[in-house]
Amino acid sequence: MSMQQPSVRMSTGPRPAVPRGIVGTWTNEDLHLYLDRCQVDTPDRLVQATWNHILERRDKVGSVVDFGAGDGRFAHHGRYESYVGYEIDKDRSRNAKLPANAKLVHRCAFSRDVTDASVCIGNPPFVRNQDLPLGWRTEVASKLHKRAGISISGLANAWQYFFLLSIVSAAEDGLVALVIPYEWVSRPSAALLRDFIHAQGWEVDVYRLVDAAFDSVLTTASITIVDKAAKTGTWRYFEENSDGSYRPLNSASGSSLGYLPYESGRKVCNETPRAIRGLSPGTQKVFTLTEAERCRFGLRIEEDVVPCVTSLRGVGASGEILDEVTFNRLFRQEGRRCWLIRADREPSRQLSDYLQSVPESDYQTVTCLQRDSWWKFKMPSVPEILIATSFKGGAPKFALNRIRARAVGGVAGIHHLSPSQESAFSYAIAELDIRDRIVAHANGLRKIEINQLNALLTGIVASAEQ
Ligand SMILES: C[S@@+](CC[C@H](N)C(=O)[O-])C[C@H]1O[C@@H](n2cnc3c(N)ncnc32)[C@H](O)[C@@H]1O
Repeated sequence: MSMQQPSVRMSTGPRPAVPRGIVGTWTNEDLHLYLDRCQVDTPDRLVQATWNHILERRDKVGSVVDFGAGDGRFAHHGRYESYVGYEIDKDRSRNAKLPANAKLVHRCAFSRDVTDASVCIGNPPFVRNQDLPLGWRTEVASKLHKRAGISISGLANAWQYFFLLSIVSAAEDGLVALVIPYEWVSRPSAALLRDFIHAQGWEVDVYRLVDAAFDSVLTTASITIVDKAAKTGTWRYFEENSDGSYRPLNSASGSSLGYLPYESGRKVCNETPRAIRGLSPGTQKVFTLTEAERCRFGLRIEEDVVPCVTSLRGVGASGEILDEVTFNRLFRQEGRRCWLIRADREPSRQLSDYLQSVPESDYQTVTCLQRDSWWKFKMPSVPEILIATSFKGGAPKFALNRIRARAVGGVAGIHHLSPSQESAFSYAIAELDIRDRIVAHANGLRKIEINQLNALLTGIVASAEQ
């Protein structure tokens, strides 16, 4: 899932004010955006499958806790003594139909210290770290640090906080059963969580689900089981077949070589080859324009906007040279978003007019709202190579960036390449087949993480120099 955002179902009616007792510092606006992003319903078959995995491991279940319970759907299909679901959004639980031994409480999941749950179950909210208010992240991370002794990565998405909360809330012989993105098994931002679980020696089973599990979430989901009672230290991985059965995998990625290693681009000095993720300006709809939009607002190339690439889908072959001719043909004439507004200088009258014409509702994202001026993002530098981070074939598609476009969104940039390094990288990527070494993303897509690109890059550059 960068992991992708679930499609956001904006509610239309008036929303309640910030609920009392919610942990973190919230404005009404932040909270409503957050709650809208939380609106993902777990299909019934997944709730049932989660319970099946629990009941394979437990004959008797005492207390069940669900942090972020929605309408309490995980109260169904199980056998237990009691179920308590924490839910902050009253709208979500209004029509809940629960068994007699189950209840929902309108409280923040982080407002009480549960320590003795037999099972912590659920599907925690999937909200990207950049869409979580800083105050919330800091306060929740510090609460969890006190209880678990580890710090959640600043890059973690919301579900990681809920995952750790479930782990510390389960009794010493308890069990955690959550629907969370499969990529937690490999993401650097979840490394501390993995290390923590490894260090305790708890048994872990991760079931990678078929891509259609959620319509609206563009990431491969898993049912993850952490069994605190079974201290074998074993981690097992399974992949769901289309009939709902599972087949075991050799490793997290399914390849006997394991997944591609990671290397932080921050470690290297500024002038060495380095992959940098595409700009996330807050909303592409506002900051990246098509040729028609640029002309309509009279925005001048270079003065007001510069070329950018938000997707390489329209580029035929990998390795294509993106010069003025191909850029005009594949991007400008095709009506793709290919102009990034310049936020690094005082806007001209035309650009000011454009910014003023943007309806307020179009920039209600945490990223925009956290800035002094909602539109003033840091301008990214120009990479030598543009490379898609999601791919279907053997390796990501890339283009040689002669037009000097900025990389935006799911397109990353490879920077500081000499001409010989550039051709070594191009040849190597064209030959590469890494599809089995990357954790599946969604819809048959693989998603290479930026630090996996950095590890690849370092390997290629080093072998070219030998
Ligand atoms: C992905 S939804 C899952 C809902 C339901 N359990 C399901 O599986 O369909 C996550 C839920 O967590 C709730 N939530 C988010 N933050 C919360 C918090 N701090 N405390 C309690 N509930 C929260 C959201 O309102 C949302 O209903």
